[in-house]
Amino acid sequence: MYNSKITGLGYYVPDNVVTNNDLKEFMDTSDEWIQERTGIKERRWIDPKTEDTTAVMGAKASRIAIERAGLTKDDIDFIIFATLSPDMYFPGGGVQVQDMLDMPTIGALDVRNQCSGFIYAMSVADQFIKTGMYKNILVIGAENHSGGLEKSTRGRGVTVIFGDGAGAAVLSRTEEEGKGILSSHLHSEGKHAKELVLEGPSTGRWVPEILEKNDPDDVSYYPYMNGQFVFKHAIGRFSEAIVEGLQANGLEKDDIDMLIPHQANLRIAQFIQKKFQLSDDKVYNNIMKYGNTTAASVIIALTEAWEKGKIKDNDLVVLAAFGSGFTWGSVVIRW
Ligand code: ACO
Repeated sequence: MYNSKITGLGYYVPDNVVTNNDLKEFMDTSDEWIQERTGIKERRWIDPKTEDTTAVMGAKASRIAIERAGLTKDDIDFIIFATLSPDMYFPGGGVQVQDMLDMPTIGALDVRNQCSGFIYAMSVADQFIKTGMYKNILVIGAENHSGGLEKSTRGRGVTVIFGDGAGAAVLSRTEEEGKGILSSHLHSEGKHAKELVLEGPSTGRWVPEILEKNDPDDVSYYPYMNGQFVFKHAIGRFSEAIVEGLQANGLEKDDIDMLIPHQANLRIAQFIQKKFQLSDDKVYNNIMKYGNTTAASVIIALTEAWEKGKIKDNDLVVLAAFGSGFTWGSVVIRW
């Protein structure tokens, strides 16, 4: 029986910093409102004059992760790419990264699943390694939100939250017992799909139809979020996913050394921290400087926490996320 273990981590965010005050150029908002409601001070948005795209950022993060794993691109057996903002409607970002990194003709799989995308991707990679099918899997979370947000007062409830960026992990086979990914837990509840949604472009929302109509009141091609509804569900599901992960491994909340929550909203993370009575050094947040980068948020935060030396050998690390779908889940790791 094999286990899977993180052997390399990397992240990349665009250089372009957009502060809350910068947003006032095109919408009626304030630094005070955004910070009080979300904790966000600034986010990174791709400068369209640069080469960055969802896949390009994913490839940049991947190069770092592969190098840190002590591997080369030719050692990677499979790619899993999580995003809700792919560069193209199809194909997905996985094949783009395979090409950008000049990798052999290995398999590449895209995972949607929005803010929970990286949790789902890690879980899928873990299964492939545990069954012995692959040895080294590149798992990527990358998002370009700024390209598709409604940059006006009408869209402010959603637009102020989201940021761009990418992170990558190399998951490798290990025969060490009790190390690496101990378990993963995945859930969904599709009846709430429309509470956090981008309807078009899609096969239900044809691009020509949208373009021909060019209706300024048609918001269905911008993300919609029922903020308070999402907030309420996020708090409950985050907690359930963490408890499920602990119970599956016979652990208690005091066993957690580091919780990396999806960076949805600082208030959600603080609620969870309080509920599980975790000290500040046991929860890592960086939404203040990057905003909510959905499928990239957990892997960017994990990488930063690790780079800062906040994760040590043998630590119990819990990753948890909740997002559109609704989807949610957790991954429990013995570092
Ligand atoms: N700046 C200024 N005012 C604003 C802004 C803004 N950016 N956005 C909304 N407002 C106004 C509204 O128009 C409203 O004004 P009104 O009372 O005159 O009508 C008022 O502020 C309150 O709006 P609400 O939407 O009720 O504000 P709320 O307190 O719910 O905060 C927020 C909104 C921050 C989105 C909150 O609901 C939230 O964080 N929800 C969770 C969302 C979340 O975490 N999503 C991510 C998880 S899932 C994922 O990551 C995909």
